[in-house]
Amino acid sequence: MKTETVRFGIIGCGLMGREFASAAARWCHLLDTAARPEIAAVCDRNTGTFPWFLDNFPTIRRATDDYGELLARPDVDAVYVAIPHHLHQEVYCAAIGAGKHLMGEKPFGIDQAACEAILAASRRHPHVFVRCSSESVFFPAMQRIGELLEQDAFGQLIEVNTGFLHSSDLDPDKPINWKRRIEYNGEYGVMGDLGMHACHLPFRAGWRPRNVRAILSNIFKDRPDGSGGRAPCETWDNATLLCEAADPAIRRTFPWTIKTQRIAPGQRNHWYTEIYGTKLSVRWSSVHSDVLHVLKYEGGEQIWGEIQTGHETAYKTITGGIFQFGFGDSILQMWAAFLHELVHGKPIKRFAGCATPEEAAVSHRLFTAALASQRTAATVPLS
Ligand SMILES: NC(=O)c1ccc[n+]([C@@H]2O[C@H](COP(=O)([O-])OP(=O)(O)OC[C@H]3O[C@@H](n4cnc5c(N)ncnc54)[C@H](O)[C@@H]3O)[C@@H](O)[C@H]2O)c1
Repeated sequence: MKTETVRFGIIGCGLMGREFASAAARWCHLLDTAARPEIAAVCDRNTGTFPWFLDNFPTIRRATDDYGELLARPDVDAVYVAIPHHLHQEVYCAAIGAGKHLMGEKPFGIDQAACEAILAASRRHPHVFVRCSSESVFFPAMQRIGELLEQDAFGQLIEVNTGFLHSSDLDPDKPINWKRRIEYNGEYGVMGDLGMHACHLPFRAGWRPRNVRAILSNIFKDRPDGSGGRAPCETWDNATLLCEAADPAIRRTFPWTIKTQRIAPGQRNHWYTEIYGTKLSVRWSSVHSDVLHVLKYEGGEQIWGEIQTGHETAYKTITGGIFQFGFGDSILQMWAAFLHELVHGKPIKRFAGCATPEEAAVSHRLFTAALASQRTAATVPLS
């Protein structure tokens, strides 16, 4: 099979820009791919980020601090944009308007209006492929859960719990950065940062929150400003959401809790998914990412079993099936999904696709309702 080369520009050469470049550099890890990314150009307003890219990627023909210049280049087919949230709308819409396929980072706009504007741009340019970054769904155990959902194995849903917890902000003396300022990160705070990770699989299952009661906490109200003073830290550190979720396919509702926390003592990068059903229940946590706990109920004893999932990936790799899977592997799988869908028009299977702009828009309706719920201490229906 001939492998197509898709020439990428990276806008935002920080933490996530480098993760994508690194995934592209080990594309040979994947088997049977219809397309491969080539890093053709990079853009960052901080030119100090360029040497790492230029030293490692001889394919880069241009490094610029002007994203408009990168988007004007005919030798760029697609872009990965990983920049602060207040710039998402402007840069994503410009990329789509320039006809560049787009992988945009979450939350896909700083607020609901920004996300709707990006969605509208995407609808105006249906030939441009647009997806939102979210990688935890590509862990093998999450893929297994997706298969069980496709098989309708759970019976009636009793409860779903998903979340993303870390403790990066437990230290009150950690200096403030853009992710802790409303102006750059958005009013959603931690929900904008971490929320899509907890919503991707449930949204792909077709579940939709009907309403939400949210409790949001701002635990440290100021932080060192990096110049000897203190700066206000206004963004929400932790969010606990209780939703009444609906599965339109079966017209039933069930409780869905979503926790996103930057101050979760003991946690580093903890994604989890729990689904409890009348016939089958599953629990997965990225702390023991190889392990999927399963309880099948057919009457009699209720026994949790443990499946070690190894390296059973949606997109085939050279790694033996017994070996462990990690964060970098989930990023590689997400990019394999993006390029597979770009070329073939659909993901290899339903739960092995990147989050869509429509799914991002649902997350914004949820987080906007959660903010209203916090303000009013009431349960708020989604618009
Ligand atoms: N998918 C994930 O797991 C994950 C993890 C972390 C962050 N993110 C998301 O990725 C995005 C970026 O986060 P990050 O952690 O990489 O941030 P970062 O601060 O490490 O990098 C952002 C980069 O954008 C650059 N930048 C700022 N303004 C710019 C402009 N006008 N033009 C060009 N470059 C500009 C900055 O100089 C910086 O290098 C955010 O949307 C964030 O929510 C996703």
